[in-house]
Amino acid sequence: MYSRIPQAFIDEVIGRTDIVELIDSRITLKKKGKEYAACCPFHNEKTASFTVSPEKQFYHCFGCGAHGTALGFLMEYERLDFIEAVEVLAQQHGLEVPKDNNSFIKNDFQPLYILLEQANTYFQKSLRKHQHAINYLKDRGVSGEIAAQYNLGYAEDGFENLLKQFDSAATQEQLIEIGLIKKNDKGGIYDRFRNRIIFPIKDRRGRVIGFGGRAIDDAVPKYLNSPETPVFHKSEALYGLYEARKAKQTARSLIVVEGYMDVVALAQHGIENVVATLGTATTSQHIQNLYRCTQEIVFCFDGDRAGRDAAWRAAQQTIPLFKDGLEAKFLFLPQGEDPDSLIRSRGKEIFLQYINEGDSLATFIFSKLSEDIDIRSPSGKARLAQLAKPLLEKFPNGVFKQLIFEELEKKVGAPIDYTSTSLTRPKPANVTSNKVTPVRLAVAALLHQPSLALEVDSIDFLHENQIAGVPLLSKIIQIWKQQPELTHAALIERFRDQPEEQQIQKLMSWDPPEMADPQATLQDALVWIQRKTQSSRVQELIDKQNTDGLNEDERQEFKNLLHQKAS
Ligand code: UTP
Ligand code: MN
Repeated sequence: MYSRIPQAFIDEVIGRTDIVELIDSRITLKKKGKEYAACCPFHNEKTASFTVSPEKQFYHCFGCGAHGTALGFLMEYERLDFIEAVEVLAQQHGLEVPKDNNSFIKNDFQPLYILLEQANTYFQKSLRKHQHAINYLKDRGVSGEIAAQYNLGYAEDGFENLLKQFDSAATQEQLIEIGLIKKNDKGGIYDRFRNRIIFPIKDRRGRVIGFGGRAIDDAVPKYLNSPETPVFHKSEALYGLYEARKAKQTARSLIVVEGYMDVVALAQHGIENVVATLGTATTSQHIQNLYRCTQEIVFCFDGDRAGRDAAWRAAQQTIPLFKDGLEAKFLFLPQGEDPDSLIRSRGKEIFLQYINEGDSLATFIFSKLSEDIDIRSPSGKARLAQLAKPLLEKFPNGVFKQLIFEELEKKVGAPIDYTSTSLTRPKPANVTSNKVTPVRLAVAALLHQPSLALEVDSIDFLHENQIAGVPLLSKIIQIWKQQPELTHAALIERFRDQPEEQQIQKLMSWDPPEMADPQATLQDALVWIQRKTQSSRVQELIDKQNTDGLNEDERQEFKNLLHQKAS
């Protein structure tokens, strides 16, 4: 999944980073023995159970079980995705994130981005040359300044205007790939966007990824968008996000509207923290992208049935992502109005007032769930509990989840059983649930003292071993034998998105009494594994002897095994 960044580079970045410094610059750490401690940034607490180990380059909270490497910390704390976290660290060390030769070059979309940018420039120039297109925008209240800020353009009427700008066949192939040129049944090619105002759609970094086009006559459809392309995905992209981030208003929220024109019109009235979905429903991807840039999303929908249904879908997508500290609001416009028409007729203040009066996520959820229920009657209350419980269970564990369940309990007047690991009812952190097994002890011992890997000479008996955890143990020994210089954190990063990730992170912060002597613990565990492997092989051979019989090699093996067992 993340194969794009070479592992060696991740090792390098992790190797250069000091997790103590990284975390200390965000929350203040206090030295405590060999480690550093603070109140956990991932849950609410009064005593410091969050610890950072300089030796392991790993953090761990005994209260909530949060743990990870420097990359993991950045991802959690700053809500970055993996690649972004690598980029942040790389930048700190003045490194360029390299593109992996094997998998990245194949997906090198650079030429497509360049073409999209060239087309964008062409459309903008063409707007300046066509007065009737400028007039259309003027009539809709859009100034030249705002048009420039959003890089609005114009696609001329006619079938070959853009096409003629690019004459090589190879380029035309790429224009087809990015959806600017279409092919007809007879193999002829022509411009997709004709006589339309062009809204370039950008990614978060400001690269143009696609276009939306508004007809300025009565052509249908009224809006035409780029099709899905290798760089343009409607279910993720948000129109105006780049511009909103660039404007960096003091506003700490992002408003989500339905139309391109709504974004532009609000900007025209000085509200620049606005983005639009691209004629699709709000997806979980959208919401994740938004929460990476803001703490509060204000969803703005039509007041009609369709608008309320769309808002409900958005709310359902928001619930599992709604970590403590985030906010969401739902705003319903008066019938027949959209943000563009509302702000033009009523002005900025009234619009902002609507936003202020939007429903909170909790309010919206309860009002939606109670829609067809009489919640004064006992059966109505029971029905509400029945509808709400499975939905509210989807909130991430935390204070908010607890509070919203308390609200539900108040509404129905009865206690409701739900799962939570939040502060006032702390459950023991995952780590304490590690069962003591020799294999777990062996892994933990190695994680305590990686140099032990070098002392293990033969690990043949670990290969293809069926005992639970042994494949992980053998992998760790191999990695550290090959690269003894690797830090704990770099080792853990090897297992990112692998099935063993959770297991290894848990063992990393496990500290049973046996760890007082990791060397002896590892040794004992290896002996145990070897014995156990031998005796299961003996059993296997006995079974075979009783059914199919043994061949010469197996008979010899059996003898040897019995001999070893006896000694
Ligand atoms: P609306 O039909 O609500 O238009 O489309 P609007 O934003 O009010 O536009 P104006 O004011 O008439 O110019 C909202 C969004 O739905 C998508 C577009 O993304 C548009 O911005 N849409 C709409 C389409 O993709 N195709 C259409 O034909 C219409
Ligand atoms: Mn409109």
